[in-house]
Amino acid sequence: MRLYDVGFRFLKLFPAEPIHEVVFGALRGTMAIPGVRGAVRRALAPAAPSLEVRAFGVTFPGPVGLAAGFDKNALGPDALAALGFGFVEVGTVTARAQDGNPKPRLFRLPADRALVNRMGFNNHGAERVSRRLDGSPPASVVAVNIGKTKVVSEAEAADDYAQSARLLGRHAAFVVVNVSSPNTPGLRDLQRAEALAPILDAVRTALDESVTDRRVPLLVKIAPDLADEDVDAVADLAVSRGLDGIVLTNTTISRARLASSPSEIEQVGAGGLSGEPLRERSLALLSRVYRRVGKRLVLVSVGGIATAEDAWQRITHGATLLELYTSFIYEGPLVAYRIHDGLRTRLAERGLERLEQAVGLSIQSSHVVGDHP
Ligand SMILES: Cc1cc2nc3c(=O)[nH]c(=O)nc-3n(C[C@H](O)[C@H](O)[C@H](O)COP(=O)(O)O)c2cc1C
Repeated sequence: MRLYDVGFRFLKLFPAEPIHEVVFGALRGTMAIPGVRGAVRRALAPAAPSLEVRAFGVTFPGPVGLAAGFDKNALGPDALAALGFGFVEVGTVTARAQDGNPKPRLFRLPADRALVNRMGFNNHGAERVSRRLDGSPPASVVAVNIGKTKVVSEAEAADDYAQSARLLGRHAAFVVVNVSSPNTPGLRDLQRAEALAPILDAVRTALDESVTDRRVPLLVKIAPDLADEDVDAVADLAVSRGLDGIVLTNTTISRARLASSPSEIEQVGAGGLSGEPLRERSLALLSRVYRRVGKRLVLVSVGGIATAEDAWQRITHGATLLELYTSFIYEGPLVAYRIHDGLRTRLAERGLERLEQAVGLSIQSSHVVGDHP
């Protein structure tokens, strides 16, 4: 049994959200001790040149990033990145600060190596998060995920997203428009092409107007619960609107095929399920979208990635970048380091010099439409 497994048995005795705050606070405190962050970063960084990824004009030291939701307020992206992540996606940030749903709202389902959350976009708001990033600009690659303020109607959604983009775009290596959280009523309806197009256009304009020294890449994050045809529609829209990529997927509202007991699942209640039970659907959507759009979009795969084998599978099925959240909780702080190391070994075994050469290898090229960007 690994040291982290012993620690996790202890942490599991306490409710999930307070433990998240205590552990993240302790991590930031430790990394603030002079010399510590640099030493940890040097030990855990994805150092192999073969792991470096170039996508939409950004250079990532490694493909495995920390998914949105862990550092919603950009409190410590550098402390997290030092643990070996190639990038950190902060957020979801909304234009107005909000408290989120009543607690408890984060739960573990250990038998499934899963989490259920109904956080509801608790965050400090775009202005405050922007000021924080102004005060201590991160040294690592940081993406910003933006969402809709709960009290804002669908008709005003585009303006709301654009306001966040205007405040946060300059801090972001790339921006992710989140229309897929199950915990803001009506949010996922914004995935319909006719609702999504004006949001993406408004965010693109806001980014171009507010950041003039570079083009900020723009991606959309989708839900695993979309019907296949709706996924195709979003993918087509992303191409036609000139998006840079798709993050797939967010958490699921499905509770199918869980090992946890029905009473445990019922006790936890509503929310988005993440972790191992998402793995299959997330991979299936990735393959589907890659077959459809090829390399015209950068695909960022997230959902149930816990091992180097999972990561390799996603890359060979079309992902250029990867993200994880739940396995960081269950596997511990070395998960990104371990996955990068396993990817480095796989590349060396196959004589590949760059990770990009493996992207989509398992998908028959005859099925893939679209050219290299
Ligand atoms: C507690 C928690 C909070 C999350 N908050 C957000 C969020 O604010 N915005 C977002 O786009 N995704 C959020 N997610 C979803 C993750 O970014 C990710 O898409 C999902 O958990 C699947 O990845 P995983 O199986 O590696 O956890 C959250 C996930 C968890 C577990």
